[in-house]
Amino acid sequence: MTGRRRLVVVSNRVAAPRAGSPGNQGGLAVALESALKQTRGIWFGWSGETVDEFNGHIRLERNQGITTATIDLTPEDVASYYEGYSNRTLWPLFHYRIDLAEYDRQFEAGYASVNRRFAETLAQLLDPDDIVWVHDYHLIPLARELRALGVCNRIGFFLHTPWPPVRLLTTLPDHRQLVEALFSYDLLGFQASEWLDSFTDYVTREADGRLGPDGEVAGFGLKTEAALFPIGIDAAAFRRAAQSPEARAMAKRMRTSIAGRHMLVGVDRLDYSKGLEERFLGYERFLSEDPESLNRVFLLQIAPPSREGIGSYQEIRDKLDQLSGRINGAHAEVDWVPLRYVNRGYSRRELAGIFRTARVGLVTPLRDGMNLVAKEYVAAQDAADPGVLVLSRFAGAAEDLAEALLVNPFSQEDIADSIRQALAMERPERIRRWEALMARVETNDVAHWQKAFLSRLAG
Ligand code: ADP
Ligand code: F6P
Repeated sequence: MTGRRRLVVVSNRVAAPRAGSPGNQGGLAVALESALKQTRGIWFGWSGETVDEFNGHIRLERNQGITTATIDLTPEDVASYYEGYSNRTLWPLFHYRIDLAEYDRQFEAGYASVNRRFAETLAQLLDPDDIVWVHDYHLIPLARELRALGVCNRIGFFLHTPWPPVRLLTTLPDHRQLVEALFSYDLLGFQASEWLDSFTDYVTREADGRLGPDGEVAGFGLKTEAALFPIGIDAAAFRRAAQSPEARAMAKRMRTSIAGRHMLVGVDRLDYSKGLEERFLGYERFLSEDPESLNRVFLLQIAPPSREGIGSYQEIRDKLDQLSGRINGAHAEVDWVPLRYVNRGYSRRELAGIFRTARVGLVTPLRDGMNLVAKEYVAAQDAADPGVLVLSRFAGAAEDLAEALLVNPFSQEDIADSIRQALAMERPERIRRWEALMARVETNDVAHWQKAFLSRLAG
């Protein structure tokens, strides 16, 4: 652990915890909130607000045991750094979607300048003994900028997303500069071995690198360490959430509306990486192939809008609106709709209640760093009558959750077959699979992740 040293967590998005807040802020914020509650420290990042001119003003707030320190960005910063380089360039590239990645020098310049400003502001807050833990693709150059300002603290970086294969990464015009920046960190953490392997592959092939023992990586004439730290959830808290009055009330509400049918559930930010279109098509195929399932099952898909200023997100939203209309138009009856498609967030407790009443959890991203929803679905189940997790083999979570029904999310047949198999699965097999999954979700929880990373970073 960090011992008595203060932990300073840095991420683009800082989610100040509010009781019962409906979340569409994604896995990073949910995990860091859990991790920070268990340690003394501060969480630094963007407030989510804009100001006409950057003023470097740091807003300090304390809420439910977590201190946040946030700064505002200008609308131009948001356009070039957040919506631009982070989410029009790196996000699609890191999720293997080079067809959607936009390469634009203005984005690159905005990304560099915001990282520099983050460093200049953060440097004022740092004590020499602090341990600094930076998160995600928005802030890759941050350590290099901090080092340039003379910061000598231990600094670690954790990537919540996949890391792409070399041939995809080299489509990025400044790929060498981006990867070289990672060598200013003392430790790099990845979610799954596939992403770590792609990173080391890049370094050996493109940066004249060498791999040493215990995760040492040399490249660009520099050295760092890289290792696997699969993120987990606060399993005990989520189990408790599933038993809370709010969860029970939600479960009751759901059971009334389920009316003896089986519910399939999906909960995702509305993002093209989540495979929602493919999931809907797979479900549509299942309905057409299994007419006896009509009026006996339904899919609840909760998908709060995300990154709405970006064209590719508007397109996926339009597609899903059309597709859900088509599926319901073709199959609905006066007393039944096959697909309930809801574009809003729910509190964690309400979500836990929803997960607990769903016979099948559909988690089928096309590519995902880890995917915490898969772990939350498992943690919320009733041990005596658990549901079945259908999980994409291309999510980092699949490396650990092997007892789920693993599917190829690109294949409609595979999705339809898994739904059929999950609905037909007898209780003893459901219990056997769930017990194995739950054991891993509990052991590899968020506290384990945080301790593993920080004890190694602290040295
Ligand atoms: P990502 O970080 O890409 O969004 P994850 O599955 O790792 O994906 O994390 C998503 C987190 O956001 C989970 O903790 C999940 O419960 C939460 N979340 C997603 N959709 C909703 C929603 N509609 N309401 C509340 N929480 C949500
Ligand atoms: O977990 C991946 C991630 O991109 C986080 O970095 C981010 O906070 C979350 O998804 C939600 O995205 P955004 O912050 O862009 O709303």
